[in-house]
Amino acid sequence: MFRTFALSENQLKQKHTMETISRRSALKRMGLLVAGAACMGMPALTACENKTKKRIILYFTGTGNCLYVARQLADEHTELLSIPQLVKQGRYTFEADEIGIVYPVYGHMPPNMVREFIKKAHLEAGYKFAILTYGNRKCSSVEIWDDVSRKAGCPFDYITTMIMVDNWLPNFDMNEQIKIDKHIPESLERIRTDLVAQRRWHEPVTELERQQHAGFLQASGVNPETGFLLHSQDAFTVTDACIGCGICTEVCPRGNYELTSTGIKTEGACEFCFACIHNCPQKAILFKQMKEVNPNARYRNEHVSLWSIKEANHQKL
Ligand SMILES: Cc1cc2nc3c(=O)[nH]c(=O)nc-3n(C[C@H](O)[C@H](O)[C@H](O)COP(=O)(O)O)c2cc1C
Ligand code: SF4
Ligand code: SF4
Repeated sequence: MFRTFALSENQLKQKHTMETISRRSALKRMGLLVAGAACMGMPALTACENKTKKRIILYFTGTGNCLYVARQLADEHTELLSIPQLVKQGRYTFEADEIGIVYPVYGHMPPNMVREFIKKAHLEAGYKFAILTYGNRKCSSVEIWDDVSRKAGCPFDYITTMIMVDNWLPNFDMNEQIKIDKHIPESLERIRTDLVAQRRWHEPVTELERQQHAGFLQASGVNPETGFLLHSQDAFTVTDACIGCGICTEVCPRGNYELTSTGIKTEGACEFCFACIHNCPQKAILFKQMKEVNPNARYRNEHVSLWSIKEANHQKL
């Protein structure tokens, strides 16, 4: 349920308030929210040491940013594993020298599937790291993951954020987002250096960022225990522009789309990851209740193919 919420004077003055209001307003309008190579860089696992370390990176992605980051932090000794595939297989036990997780923040929180995954997971590793990608405002996402993972009995040694293209269509024009220099190579270099050193560190969170997240929760009504968890039949509609290509049936990590004799149907618990809406080649998937800044613009990370998104997320193949 939505609760009325007035931003304090101070909050209104903050640099990112516009984004806060518009993301929040968009959610409100929807009315759905209840409930190193060797010693220089990567792969930098152990080229400076004699022993080769095994690294596992677990990832969740809607539009490819997290898969790109996961790949960039991998070397030939790294196993890259998609969380939707692991959930599908019922695989929750992993052992390596280092285990990492890469996910996109949704309302500064982890995707519901990531949250549920970590509750069941047994991660045996001497060093655990988490990279949280975001597009505009990270708020207290580092502390949120620390809290969620600790409660799951699986604390992480290193947690940091990384800014990427913001794929949130209600506020951002993807054609404009891709033009912004978000210093991705620099962020990757910073993270690689930290991982080589097995830095034990959590990116600091400010009091203001905590307050901003609290304000977001209060205003949107998003349940902090579940994060974004919608129903795709309430969130999306498919227009006559659909050509029945079936891509949406393969990119959804929840398997919510089905090609029927009467057209595409969508139904089921939804991560709100936007894999369907961004990857439809006809732009035939639209929000039912939210407006978009530019309905003609869609996004997938430029280094990640549609095939890779399908491989990561398909539930029916
Ligand atoms: C439902 C949803 C909520 C989001 N919430 C935030 C947010 O609170 N702050 C932010 O900076 N970016 C937010 N984003 C943007 C994504 O975190 C960002 O674009 C991420 O890199 C996407 O990763 P992916 O391409 O691997 O899916 C949100 C995106 C979606 C789809
Ligand atoms: S991806 Fe788009 S065009 Fe293809 S079947 Fe789904 S809705 Fe139709
Ligand atoms: S329906 Fe769309 S937004 Fe929801 S989980 Fe599937 S791909 Fe993601």
